[in-house]
Amino acid sequence: MGRAGRSPRHSTTHASMFSYPVTRRYPFRWITPVVIIGFVVATILFTFLNFVSTGYTLVNEESWNPNATVSSGVWMNHWPSFLVSKVEPSCEPINVQVGSEFFTNQTALRYTLTDVWQTSQGGAGAGNGVASSLTYFSNLIENCSVNSVEIDYAAMDRSASQFAYSEWGAVVRTYATCTILGSGGLTNFNITQEYDYVPSDISFSTLYTFLGTNFLSRNRTDKSSLWWGESLMSMYWTHSTYQMQTIRENQTTNDAPGIRKGTLYFYPNDDRTITNMTDPDFFECDYRFIIDKSQGAFDVVFPGTYGEYRSQTRLSTLVQQASYPNIWTEADALAKAAYSTVMTDLGQTSAKSNLLTDPASLSFFTTNFTEATRNIANAYPGPADRPYGTEDSGPLGTTPSVIKTKYLCQVPQRKPAGSLFVSILVADLVFLQALWFVFIYVVDMFFLRRHPERNHCEGCVVDARMRNLGPDTLPLTKEDAEVEMGGLRPRSSESRSRSVSRSRLMAQSMDMGNRDFYRP
Ligand SMILES: *[C@@H]1O[C@H](CO)[C@@H](O)[C@H](O)[C@H]1NC(C)=O
Ligand SMILES: *[C@@H]1O[C@H](CO)[C@@H](O)[C@H](O)[C@H]1NC(C)=O
Ligand SMILES: *[C@@H]1O[C@H](CO)[C@@H](O)[C@H](O)[C@H]1NC(C)=O
Ligand SMILES: *[C@@H]1O[C@H](CO)[C@@H](O)[C@H](O)[C@H]1NC(C)=O
Ligand SMILES: *[C@@H]1O[C@H](CO)[C@@H](O)[C@H](O)[C@H]1NC(C)=O
Ligand SMILES: *[C@@H]1O[C@H](CO)[C@@H](O)[C@H](O)[C@H]1NC(C)=O
Ligand SMILES: *[C@@H]1O[C@H](CO)[C@@H](O)[C@H](O)[C@H]1NC(C)=O
Ligand SMILES: *[C@@H]1O[C@H](CO)[C@@H](O)[C@H](O)[C@H]1NC(C)=O
Repeated sequence: MGRAGRSPRHSTTHASMFSYPVTRRYPFRWITPVVIIGFVVATILFTFLNFVSTGYTLVNEESWNPNATVSSGVWMNHWPSFLVSKVEPSCEPINVQVGSEFFTNQTALRYTLTDVWQTSQGGAGAGNGVASSLTYFSNLIENCSVNSVEIDYAAMDRSASQFAYSEWGAVVRTYATCTILGSGGLTNFNITQEYDYVPSDISFSTLYTFLGTNFLSRNRTDKSSLWWGESLMSMYWTHSTYQMQTIRENQTTNDAPGIRKGTLYFYPNDDRTITNMTDPDFFECDYRFIIDKSQGAFDVVFPGTYGEYRSQTRLSTLVQQASYPNIWTEADALAKAAYSTVMTDLGQTSAKSNLLTDPASLSFFTTNFTEATRNIANAYPGPADRPYGTEDSGPLGTTPSVIKTKYLCQVPQRKPAGSLFVSILVADLVFLQALWFVFIYVVDMFFLRRHPERNHCEGCVVDARMRNLGPDTLPLTKEDAEVEMGGLRPRSSESRSRSVSRSRLMAQSMDMGNRDFYRP
């Protein structure tokens, strides 16, 4: 219609390639509050959801306590997993290789892992289920039993610096079997603990002092049992090696061949009813002592030397007979100290026999401390050198243990405030826009489609009315008045007068003969 540029008024008749929507106020009272409240609620909700699902990134972190690290994300369990599954904290289990060393969270002794096997798969005997490493995830060490304690005494075969500390030395090895209940079921493992109060790598600088070797940490009040365990082990180590030295000196004085080295093998008595550690028959003891007769000749002292083999492994018999070399009481006490320290360090709270958790037994084994400290060489025991009860220390006892190691964990970390703001803002805008689109669509669908005239522009409505009824039939109905006023109910007189003036304007335009313009 109409040629462009005829006059400013007629330029409206040109139809461009592009179009604009004609807007009209919604004719519903409820829409303003619904939109405002909906906007606020949706913004809060979307902000929250976006914060949970995108506000965090996973970062690597090392953790000593993976269970605590994993459960620190427990608040996320209340959220649907599709939102938070990517930001849940997690930790990797570790593999303790056979042959490697570890220590427990009591941080006392070090252990070497020697065997790993799973009973459910037949175990070591069947040749199945033997593993090269222990898959470990902070599992409690359970059901430990000490299989044996072995003490190797040696003199001239040790290094000169060890010899300076003590002419005789001893290596105490404790063999134990424990169990963990992991994700793959029960796993058993054998461990060996090796204790040498004067180890081969000892520095000369600590001569005539408490050496503090083998134990990673000590605390008189907090870990009293282990503190006494260390004292007992070092005391009976220094005392029994000195005893060997005295025995050898006596032999040399009497021109008799002396012992060069010896081993004692303590194992739990077959009679399992003996659980009191003060009982000398708690352990049985097999032994070999090698007597150096010079020029390559040697004798061996073993249980058969003194009589019937079985009876000569009874410690009460050996102590009573004072069999050569008479170190039975001291070596037995050293073995019991090692047994109890290992059980305490492994956190075996329900162990039947443990002299470190029983004050009466601990008193029994420390009564001779004052006497023993006078019979030592140049390596001084410690940290306690007086009997239990005369030294300040905390309460006896132990707590369950886990292998102490660091785990690699992935933990959620909040994004920096700036980038968090931008990412949530962008996500919120997208969500809100989508919601607005849906809302408009629904309103259109259910409230406007049924009344086609509501999709007409304001002017068309009036125009249509006028053409149907003529300007004289004004005023408009009440509903139309509302439509025009965008849902705000005007005072009826004002509404009427406005409508009237508007229709008068229209009528004038029509009079000017510009009918094309109003054609629908
Ligand atoms: C070792 O860890 C276990 C398990 O987490 C805990 O119960 C025990 O108190 C810890 N012991 C020490 C000495 O920290
Ligand atoms: C673990 O140690 C015990 C006692 O020393 C031994 O009988 C057992 O054979 C060992 N287990 C394996 C798998 O070697
Ligand atoms: C840590 O969690 C693992 C796996 O859930 C479990 O087997 C282990 O017993 C837990 N450790 C402690 C000390 O609670
Ligand atoms: C430890 O021994 C007890 C009693 O024999 C048993 O109930 C428990 O399951 C054992 N635990 C493990 C981890 O083997
Ligand atoms: C022993 O442990 C307690 C409690 O953890 C601590 O306050 C104290 O300083 C520790 N003592 C030593 C000598 O480390
Ligand atoms: C010293 O050696 C002699 C002869 O071998 C022996 O009779 C005596 O009991 C020994 N004394 C000590 C204290 O061992
Ligand atoms: C072990 O025996 C000694 C002496 O017979 C006794 O005083 C002590 O109470 C006993 N200990 C336990 C744990 O039964
Ligand atoms: C303490 O010394 C006495 C006397 O020498 C001895 O009979 C007893 O066996 C010793 N006790 C220990 C635990 O060594």
